[in-house]
Amino acid sequence: NIEEDLLPFLPKCEHHIHIEGALTPELLFTLAKKNNITLPTDDKAFTSPATLTERYRHFASLDDFLHYYYIGMSVLITAADFEALATSYFSRAARDTVRHADVFFDPQAHLSRGVDYPTLLAGLSAAQSHAKQTLNLTSELVCCFLRHLPAQASLATFHLPALQASFASGAVRAIGLDSSEAGFPPHLFADLYADARALGLNLTAHAGEEAPPEYIRSALDDLHVSRIDHGRRLPEDPELLARVAAQGTLLTLCPISNVFLRGVGSVSELPVREFLDAGVKFSINSDDPAYFGGNYIGENYAAVQRAFALSVGEWEGVCRAAIEGSWCGEGRKGEMR
Ligand code: HPA
Ligand code: ZN
Repeated sequence: NIEEDLLPFLPKCEHHIHIEGALTPELLFTLAKKNNITLPTDDKAFTSPATLTERYRHFASLDDFLHYYYIGMSVLITAADFEALATSYFSRAARDTVRHADVFFDPQAHLSRGVDYPTLLAGLSAAQSHAKQTLNLTSELVCCFLRHLPAQASLATFHLPALQASFASGAVRAIGLDSSEAGFPPHLFADLYADARALGLNLTAHAGEEAPPEYIRSALDDLHVSRIDHGRRLPEDPELLARVAAQGTLLTLCPISNVFLRGVGSVSELPVREFLDAGVKFSINSDDPAYFGGNYIGENYAAVQRAFALSVGEWEGVCRAAIEGSWCGEGRKGEMR
């Protein structure tokens, strides 16, 4: 039985986890109280962790989710808050046998609230060290930029001395692009990605989650990313599908996220068979697990198995692609192989 006897024990690498999306309703309320943050009083969903959890079951779209996601993260103020958040994620991921995680964070969403970058980075870094020492779980940080804001804003943020220092020190070795997708195509961020590429940073971008395959093509051609986050709409362009397969670009799929945000009606509607048949590399990830029914990476693996009945050999391929596509060093890959 693959679901019970293999998947819970596979060494996993997670490549698509927004740390702010690991903020559980319980921790959200705890931190709001501690930090004297007033949650919206005109939305009954913010009555209690239970009512918020219930509201999270009925997102209408990516933007409906993002509305709650940005309110939720407003309770994160101190370095200790970010450390508690990341530590809760790493502990939970370790239970799903995650060995390495490339973790997204959204600095612009914190800077705009008056939380400075050294504060949030100190908290995240402390949690990373702790996870490495106590859980044998390594991680890298992926600094994401918000595409619903002007490209000029992302460029200015990227060039802040605090961010540049984190790239120079190796505390942050990658950038990404997230938030509302449709209407904000990747090519708008070509200057940002050119500057990141000049620093030797790893590059990824959300594309093809809600928007069509042209966004995936733009991320590849205009931003020169080595990964595509989601990419679920790729098969709508068979020529691009063949190209992605041939060049070995990794898609970071988030099956349960796509169901919660109504991209598909069920996991079985995702093009997992098409990707396997075409030789497209992908990893399976949780995205914003605290907002998507508390479904972490293990549950995403299980959902894919229930929908597509992969063979042991196919799982070995998924597992290998995730290890090889990780942004840990070669030495760490060797330990996981
Ligand atoms: N898509 C785009 N932006 C995001 C997401 C997502 O799934 N989660 C957090 N920010
Ligand atoms: Zn995402």
